[in-house]
Amino acid sequence: MATIVLFGASRGLGAALSAGLPRPGDTVWCISRSEPPPHRADQVHRRWIHADLADPRQMDTVVRHLGTTPIDVLLYNAGVWESVDFPQVSDTEIQHIVNVNLTSLLLAAKRLMPHLIAAPAAKVILIGSTCGLENEGGTSVAYAATKFGMRGAAHALREVLRPHGVAVTCLSPGSMATDVTWEEGPDAALKRHGQKRIPVHDVIHLLRCLMELSPAACIKEIDMPALLDTDV
Ligand SMILES: NC(=O)c1ccc[n+]([C@@H]2O[C@H](COP(=O)([O-])OP(=O)(O)OC[C@H]3O[C@@H](n4cnc5c(N)ncnc54)[C@H](OP(=O)(O)O)[C@@H]3O)[C@@H](O)[C@H]2O)c1
Repeated sequence: MATIVLFGASRGLGAALSAGLPRPGDTVWCISRSEPPPHRADQVHRRWIHADLADPRQMDTVVRHLGTTPIDVLLYNAGVWESVDFPQVSDTEIQHIVNVNLTSLLLAAKRLMPHLIAAPAAKVILIGSTCGLENEGGTSVAYAATKFGMRGAAHALREVLRPHGVAVTCLSPGSMATDVTWEEGPDAALKRHGQKRIPVHDVIHLLRCLMELSPAACIKEIDMPALLDTDV
């Protein structure tokens, strides 16, 4: 029975991960500001931790709720991006993006390291973006900076955790159909977006594979652009 800690669980990909990734008997700690949607009775134990990841002090709340529970999978999915073009974005919004996407990730990695080491073969999975890959061509400067930073954090964190048998992976997806829920199914996503956006189900298949790999394997990075999205 795995314990999964999911940052950014209330909607979009996070809500789908909470619904589709765990197996019966698993526990998912869901972290977000708004309450995640209710799920069908599936024998998964879901617990919501209300925390605003833009405020670094709120990592205390997360750690307090988790106590000394060993963590099998730490999944950092929380992410925000510019609401306007970069030249118009406020200084406050830039700080907000960095805090949610990067500062809070670093705090979570540091504070929850003992919990990961306490599990038999834990995995850290960071949800990046193709915006954090070379030559992507996007113009979201703050967002791209944090997603590049996330990859850097993944590489260094891997070396810190390697001696403890904890694997670290950064998955960088392209356009996803995050408006189509896990329950609606992948065909609905393909239909709604003319196959230009990746169904969240594909991401869940990949993550499940990562979770089920033996402790000997180390998948450093996965780049996953949408095949027909020629914007990237
Ligand atoms: N959508 C795409 O096509 C796409 C493509 C590539 C990569 N990604 C990445 O995939 C991840 C999920 O994207 P998405 O489209 O599913 O995003 P989304 O629908 O906007 O959901 C973002 C999640 O992060 C949480 N979050 C945001 N700010 C937070 C805060 N201050 N404190 C706590 N939680 C916070 C949200 O919860 P609350 O608002 O309730 O707090 C929500 O659960 C992100 O990291 C994103 O960068 C997305």
